[in-house]
Amino acid sequence: MNSKIKSLCECDAPYPEIRAERKNAHYARLLSLAYAGQDSELTAILLYSYGHQVMRGKCPEMLSGVLSAVSVVEMRHLDMLGELIVLLGGDPRFCGPNPRVGINTAMLGYACEPAQILRNAMAGEEAAIRLYGDLIKNINDGCVRAVLKRIVMDEEQHLKIFKEMAGTSVYNGR
Ligand SMILES: [Fe+2]
Ligand SMILES: [Fe+2]
Repeated sequence: MNSKIKSLCECDAPYPEIRAERKNAHYARLLSLAYAGQDSELTAILLYSYGHQVMRGKCPEMLSGVLSAVSVVEMRHLDMLGELIVLLGGDPRFCGPNPRVGINTAMLGYACEPAQILRNAMAGEEAAIRLYGDLIKNINDGCVRAVLKRIVMDEEQHLKIFKEMAGTSVYNGR
């Protein structure tokens, strides 16, 4: 992968240590929304991986690489959230707060056209930023909050990249 694209997709600040002040099953369930719920890291990984595959070798060439690099960052977020869920005493299985309801991959917003891929990506990042904002408000654990705040910095970076790409003539057709 192009190292320039890779470094563009993750902000420079270090990630905090992954720890929780104490176990809290309610907080673990809240985190499962961002882990594997509708607007989750898991959803983002799947959608960006799909976009990476369908855009591979196609014009504009940079999009496939950017989606791949961003999906790797989202995998890192997934890993950090899974670790926090375990530390809080929860189960890191791939479902939202209801353990019997998992993500339905048939319902993902699959898109094969660059402008639509970017629209979906921007909407996904905005939804993730909103969700993390709610979680930061509702989780009264300084260690967990620090991780969530750092993840938001990456999501803001992703949104900025996708907005910039969507604004260029190659993507918007103007
Ligand atoms: Fe993420
Ligand atoms: Fe993101």
